[in-house]
Amino acid sequence: MQDKPAFIERYERSQSSLIPLLQKTQETFGYLPEDVLMEISEYLGIPLTRVLGVATFYAQFRFEPLGKYVIKTCHGTACHVNGAESIRQTLLEETGIDEGQTTKDGLISIERVACLGCCSLAPVIMINNRVYGKLNGETVRKLIRKLKKGGLDN
Ligand code: FES
Repeated sequence: MQDKPAFIERYERSQSSLIPLLQKTQETFGYLPEDVLMEISEYLGIPLTRVLGVATFYAQFRFEPLGKYVIKTCHGTACHVNGAESIRQTLLEETGIDEGQTTKDGLISIERVACLGCCSLAPVIMINNRVYGKLNGETVRKLIRKLKKGGLDN
């Protein structure tokens, strides 16, 4: 259970504060904790079901914390034609999760993105802030196994 975040009361008590408050909550916690959503609902006088309805409408909001390692899988044009889908499939086999999900142990999250800006290295993924390019199933498998063993430096 989170304490009531101090930032809530800095926003005007009006419906128009809902999205800015959701954005601030995600910026602060990395996701939208349910008890903070309840505080927002109470503060703004908006039923929790409506707060949840708005939050689920926008793809930018997450309802669970991100994993220790966030893998961004690129599906831009260059990565798409160079095998992004098979990279996604290998990630799914190795982690048991698909894009938009986090492993139960909180180790890995996978997020789908449009272009990571290094198309000449396609297909590309990013793990936290580091780019890995010219990938194939085997190199992706090795990366994931290293993450599971304690990190990429091991
Ligand atoms: S399309 Fe993947 S990095 Fe640009």
